[in-house]
Amino acid sequence: MSLKSWKLLESEFQRHKQTKLTDYFYEDAERIQKLSLQWESFYVDYSKNLLDEKTLDILTEMAKESGLDQAIGAYFEGSKINETENRAVLHTALRTLNPKPLMVDGKDITPKINAVKQQMFDFAKQVISGEWKGYSGKAIQHVVNIGIGGSDLGPAMVTEALEFYRNHLKVTFVSNVEGDHVEEVIKKLDPETTLFVIVSKSFTTQETLSNTNTIRKWFLTHATKSAIPQHFIAVSTNLKMVTEFGIAPENIFAMNDWVGGRFSLWSTVGLSICLAVGPSHFEDLLQGAGKMDEHFRTANFKENIPVILALITIWYNNFWEVETEAIIPYSQYLRNLPAYLQQAIMESNGKGVDRNGKPIEYQTGNIIWGASGTNAQHAFFQLMHQGTKMIPADFIGFAKPLHKGNDHQDKLMSNFFAQTQALMLGKNTETVRKELIDQGKSNEQIEALLPFKMFEGNRPSTTLFIEQLTPRNLGSLIALYEHRIFVQGIIWNIFSYDQWGVELGKQLANDILKDFDTEEIEQHDPSTRALIQHYKKFRN
Ligand code: F6P
Repeated sequence: MSLKSWKLLESEFQRHKQTKLTDYFYEDAERIQKLSLQWESFYVDYSKNLLDEKTLDILTEMAKESGLDQAIGAYFEGSKINETENRAVLHTALRTLNPKPLMVDGKDITPKINAVKQQMFDFAKQVISGEWKGYSGKAIQHVVNIGIGGSDLGPAMVTEALEFYRNHLKVTFVSNVEGDHVEEVIKKLDPETTLFVIVSKSFTTQETLSNTNTIRKWFLTHATKSAIPQHFIAVSTNLKMVTEFGIAPENIFAMNDWVGGRFSLWSTVGLSICLAVGPSHFEDLLQGAGKMDEHFRTANFKENIPVILALITIWYNNFWEVETEAIIPYSQYLRNLPAYLQQAIMESNGKGVDRNGKPIEYQTGNIIWGASGTNAQHAFFQLMHQGTKMIPADFIGFAKPLHKGNDHQDKLMSNFFAQTQALMLGKNTETVRKELIDQGKSNEQIEALLPFKMFEGNRPSTTLFIEQLTPRNLGSLIALYEHRIFVQGIIWNIFSYDQWGVELGKQLANDILKDFDTEEIEQHDPSTRALIQHYKKFRN
């Protein structure tokens, strides 16, 4: 990496590698004021990280040196920053708070954005109110979203996250090409009252087309072809293929190639969300994201939440050689946020060549994993507290619960605070010894148990503490992570908006699929050939 500030950070790491998190607090009484940010209803505490103000100065300098300022401008203005696909990246245009003309390929895209959003809202209102009827005259009760990747994870995560705001419609997601998945879904469906939303940006995705075909076949065992328009609608950029597939033109919800799959829940891809919570909550989700866009676009880097958090990831990923990061939402509603962010982050920044096509010599994409707290505490936190790896973690929590009248929230919050405290402070031998003495253990027992019961601490975390889980705050939270991805891509000098890495497996799967029915499978490597032959024994 040729950036001057990168070199400075290498020596900065030498300065920090022996420092204890607790020492930072002793050294600077104002650390918490300096290393935390309050924005709207977000309070972000990054003081429990292995860095200080000087490190942040160099990190923000690095952001400037990499041209982040200009890059943010190009991103929001619709420049074709997805160069390998020659596309703009404009999910932000779908939630802009101050709509003004935005040109892509010489055309203002804003009138179309508004028209499609209106189409989506009108449709959702008809379905929710019961005005939209199925073939037998009954209102729709159940919506099935057929899609995968960005056409599934975002809508599914948000629909689940906004459970509290849901209406009467049941919403199910079918994604996997595994036949058992779709059959389990079909088992529970009533053809008369189910609406199928086929979501595929490309409309070429094997999983989505196979599931749609299977569902359509099943549907036609109950209804005639003339019933299809009342029950099948599609979201896609590929209007030709959707029409050829037999979806009525008025039932197609367009999307544009300047919205990446993993950033598309704000577009018509979010139709299932809109059906589940209604247009008004969907609008709030957009507004929340729009607010975060404004913050990201205008705040200086030292007060810019996505920038600061992106820099913290780079600090650990590239200087501490940390491999993974955990995301722990202390909300069961957000249990699928880690899975959603895995795609957003890892499909975007899992790249090994730079923007000039040259192999990269430093680490890029961080590995993301996690689960909801407190459940995660009883699962993998052992490793986070006492294992050999350092795992920086984002702890996300909400100060006010959605349901009142029980005593759970204080318990949840005490765990939420205790875990980051425990990771930082650990427990020294003196404290463990005293506890064991108090428990009446013998000297011999104490010495034997000591090493197992102590915690070295000094494990970093960041707390994102948000007032309440509302559609607006959820929108801001997701947008925060989207921009964090962008900043990292700029500094790592990689293209974050393509995903060529998923293509090879798709190609080979198509080749292998053909080979199941042929004798000649010689072109495969010996291991794959043996697997195919083994499988053939079970095919009927
Ligand atoms: O295979 C990866 C991917 O292209 C994702 O980027 C995308 O979200 C997903 O497949 C689904 O694609 P589509 O919406 O075109 O069916």
